[in-house]
Amino acid sequence: MNLAIVGLQWGDEGKGKIVDYLAKDFDINARYQGGSNAGHTVRFGREKMIFHQVPCGVLNKQVLGIIGGGCVLDPRVILAEIESLKKYDPVIESRVKVSRFCHLIMPYHIKLDEYREGTKQAIGTTRRGIGLAYEDKYGRTGIRLGDLYNTESFGKKLSLNISRKNLVLMDVYNAEPLSDNEIFDRYMGYAGKLRPMVADDTRILGDAISAGKNILFEGAQGAMLDIDFGTYPYVTSSHTISSSVGIGLGIPPYNVESVLGVVKAYTTRVGQGPFPTEDSGQLGALLRDSGAEFGSTTGRPRRCGPFDAALVRYAARINGAREIIMTKLDVLSGIDSLKIATTYEACAEFDPFASGSLVPKYMKVPGFRQDISAARSPEDLPGAARDYLKAVEEHTGLKIAYVSVGPERDAIIRM
Ligand code: IMP
Repeated sequence: MNLAIVGLQWGDEGKGKIVDYLAKDFDINARYQGGSNAGHTVRFGREKMIFHQVPCGVLNKQVLGIIGGGCVLDPRVILAEIESLKKYDPVIESRVKVSRFCHLIMPYHIKLDEYREGTKQAIGTTRRGIGLAYEDKYGRTGIRLGDLYNTESFGKKLSLNISRKNLVLMDVYNAEPLSDNEIFDRYMGYAGKLRPMVADDTRILGDAISAGKNILFEGAQGAMLDIDFGTYPYVTSSHTISSSVGIGLGIPPYNVESVLGVVKAYTTRVGQGPFPTEDSGQLGALLRDSGAEFGSTTGRPRRCGPFDAALVRYAARINGAREIIMTKLDVLSGIDSLKIATTYEACAEFDPFASGSLVPKYMKVPGFRQDISAARSPEDLPGAARDYLKAVEEHTGLKIAYVSVGPERDAIIRM
């Protein structure tokens, strides 16, 4: 069976833990969009690993990890990640394949992201050069991983890009120009190290599908950060929703057989932009502290607030998710009364065009005080926690398939 795991909020829903948990039943774990802006955290025993580029299911030794052409690749980041993964599998490179189609994140993308974020155009990016790399891709001036293996053509593409970017760096930002020789040498060094992982991924996936292998598609960010369907312009630069799987991996859309949405038990967002249920008071601070809500890529404090069922209904619809996994239910323990946004004052459904002015209408259920981190079956949960889950199901119209109650691999309940 092929399954896509997607975020139904603003990212950071805990997809890393879920992918790591589910990957035991899969042969391949493939990423189809995004880049080093993603921060998928996996905890096992005393260890903690944050994945930015590599699909996190590779911690399961039978899994082949694929980074599809819809992703943008920062060679420095992936190589560092591969080095850290050697602790768990000295031959990890043999289980990670990177598409030749991946556009490369270049030093000028990161520099320009940083400079742009210092202006009025800032949207609170991760400053990893993601948007700039996708801009070049669609502007048809980007450099792809496969280009590194044709030295002459890479040199020409790099010079052209550097001359254009240096104009912007110098004229718009009054900054130092970049040197193409230094970048050329650096990227040639990366090319050698990446070589064993560069692959014809569409063929690998096509063959795997024909052989009936099981593929787990790992989304990055969340539906509300989708370039079209999210809270534009406060979004990332790729399609985060399930339709992106086919285009990001070069496989037909009907090969995505099922979509599972991941939601946090409350809502968070990093960076700027609309957030209807944001709580800037006590509740928001409590959720941030209890849930350790600080960005895994940037360390920024996350904005926090109650669960928004109307927003999740929208996100599930555009993703085709009928079931959800709820993470971090344990964080809600100790809150007297739990609020769920069911609809908004001006409109019943979430509308991205109105998202800056939506005023949520809430329903309330009593909270629970018990520590639920040791619960492993629905019966282990206090009645009030079960009532909260029921209310989420009722107001989202989605079945909750699993609930995660702690960062550990086994802290999960099948509902
Ligand atoms: P960019 O993807 O770095 O260009 O940032 C664009 C927006 O997406 C910003 O609001 C970021 O905070 C947000 N963003 C990007 N990646 C992630 C992620 O993995 N989790 C949560 N937010 C993200």
